[in-house]
Amino acid sequence: MKINVLFSPVGADELSFAGKTTVVIDVLRASSTIVTALYNGAREVVPVATVEFAVKVSGGMFGGQTLLGGERYTKKVEGFALGNSPLEYLPEVVSGKTIILYTTNGSKAIVKAKFSENLFVSSFLNLEAIAKHLVNLNKDFEILCAGRNNYYSMEDSICAGKLISEVTKLNESVDISDSSRACVSLSKTFGKSTLKMLKDTEHGKILLENGFEDDLNFCSKISSYDIIPYFSANVLKALSNPGNGNK
Ligand code: MLT
Repeated sequence: MKINVLFSPVGADELSFAGKTTVVIDVLRASSTIVTALYNGAREVVPVATVEFAVKVSGGMFGGQTLLGGERYTKKVEGFALGNSPLEYLPEVVSGKTIILYTTNGSKAIVKAKFSENLFVSSFLNLEAIAKHLVNLNKDFEILCAGRNNYYSMEDSICAGKLISEVTKLNESVDISDSSRACVSLSKTFGKSTLKMLKDTEHGKILLENGFEDDLNFCSKISSYDIIPYFSANVLKALSNPGNGNK
């Protein structure tokens, strides 16, 4: 079993994911929001790469049970029901709903990796569940960090490093690439307090300036939700049942 990390989707060709097992990470905040929405009972999350497509899809499909969610410049998109704060995705809001999600980086990274044979979404919130599942799957996998505006994001690499450490705890014979090793090393150096680390990142600072401190607190929690978002037929669904794994 071999693990590799891509620090950004920039330069990655859609077709390069064909046949691979991929884990997309966008800690702030798309992957944390997806995990929370599915944990709180959303039927599915449809990641989209443009606002226009989000509006088009929400109109006629999914039996009218849709909510548009996402952000532009960290703020809710005009006309959308929800922004990209995981704290908005409460059970009473999302239960049974299809969420069409557009975000600047995270949803686009997922769409880019759509040809993967297996495609999962991870955040700090569901690290342990994802790690266990990947070990059971026993296939090489690639972690795709969403980054921010085509640049590197420290928080995604640190989450990747923690995920790799979880996997290697369970299977010591895993072969890790140089980029994986770099992530593990970063997570050991900077990941001791995930909240402090998030507050020190470029994206974390922007979210703090925009009043989203509670989001940073929430997104810093490790392995609180036993949810495995799995992408198939253009939608993300939970492989495990919502409500089963809250610690
Ligand atoms: C993204 O996908 O770019 C992020 O989730 C942005 C955000 O913080 O809402």
